Amino acid sequence: MRSAALQQMPSPAQTAGAASPIVEVRGVSKIYPGGVEALNNISLSFPEGELTSLLGPSGCGKTTLLKIIAGLLPPTSGDVLIRGRKVTGPGPERSFVFQDFALMPWATVIRNAAFGLELRGVPRSEREARAEKYLADVGLKGFEQKFPHQLSGGMRQRVGLARALAVNADIVMMDEPFSAVDEQTRRQFQEDLLRLVAQERKTFLFVTHSIEEAVYVSNRIVLLSRRPSRVSEIIDVELPRETGPDQIRRHPIYLDTVERIWQTLKHYLD
Ligand SMILES: Nc1ncnc2c1ncn2[C@@H]1O[C@H](COP(=O)(O)OP(=O)(O)O)[C@@H](O)[C@H]1O
Ligand SMILES: [Mg+2]
Repeated sequence: MRSAALQQMPSPAQTAGAASPIVEVRGVSKIYPGGVEALNNISLSFPEGELTSLLGPSGCGKTTLLKIIAGLLPPTSGDVLIRGRKVTGPGPERSFVFQDFALMPWATVIRNAAFGLELRGVPRSEREARAEKYLADVGLKGFEQKFPHQLSGGMRQRVGLARALAVNADIVMMDEPFSAVDEQTRRQFQEDLLRLVAQERKTFLFVTHSIEEAVYVSNRIVLLSRRPSRVSEIIDVELPRETGPDQIRRHPIYLDTVERIWQTLKHYLD
C-alpha cells in the first residue's frame, strides 16, 4: 500500500503542486564548450514557499541546473522564468549559498554576512542589524567579530547561509551546503533549515546527493537521471514534522520514500 503523498506526479513536466510556481524551467539543455552534454530538455516548476531538492548521481548536472536558475550560467537552449520574467543574469530576488562557502577571509563574520547588502548599497548600520539578526538565527550570536579562519567548517557554512538570508531574496539556492561538515553538524543544520523554511516563507532550491537528507528536509524532490540529465521522477514528501527528528527518521513514510528513491537512483550508478 502506498500513501497518496508518495504517488508520482503524472508527468514531470506538469509539476505545479498546490502552491503557485515561482520558478519555471522550460526545456533547458546545456552543452558545455567541448561537448559535455550536462542537461537534456529539463522542464520543472518550483512552488513558492517550499523546499525542493535536486537529487541525482554525482556529475549529473545538479550544479549546472542551479547555476542556470541563478543566472550565473546561460543555458544552451530553453528558458528560466522567475514569476514569468525571463532570467538573463543574477537578480536581487535570488541568492546562492555556495558549496565552498565563498567567504572573504580578511573580513569579519558580520561583514561577510552583510556583504550582499553592502553590494546593494545598504547603509552600514542597517545592513549590520540585518546580518546580526540572521547570524543569531543560524546560531552564531557572539561570533560577529571573529574571522572565518577562527570558525569551524560548519560555522563558516552558517555565515554563508546568513549572508544569503540577509539580502532578503525570495529564492534561496543552496548547492550541497552541508557536504563538508560532520554528521552531527549536518543534522543540526537540517533542523535549522527546516525552521527557516517554516519561518521565512522563502522558496528554497536545495542540491544534495544524499537521499536521506533530501527526504528529511524537502517538500518535494526532483530526481535527475545520469548525465545528460533528464527529470526522472518528482516526489512529494509529506512527513509528520511535528513529531521530532528521531520519530521522523523511523516513520514509514520517511523509510519508504528513501527506499523508493534508492530503487530508482541505483540504476544510475555505474
Ligand atoms: N565548466 C565546465 N566545462 C565543461 N564541463 C563541465 C563544466 N562544469 C561542469 N562540467 C561537467 O558537466 C557535468 C555536470 O556537472 P555538475 O553540474 O557539476 O554536476 P553535479 O553538480 O550533479 O555533480 C559533469 O560531467 C561535469 O564534469
Ligand atoms: Mg555539484
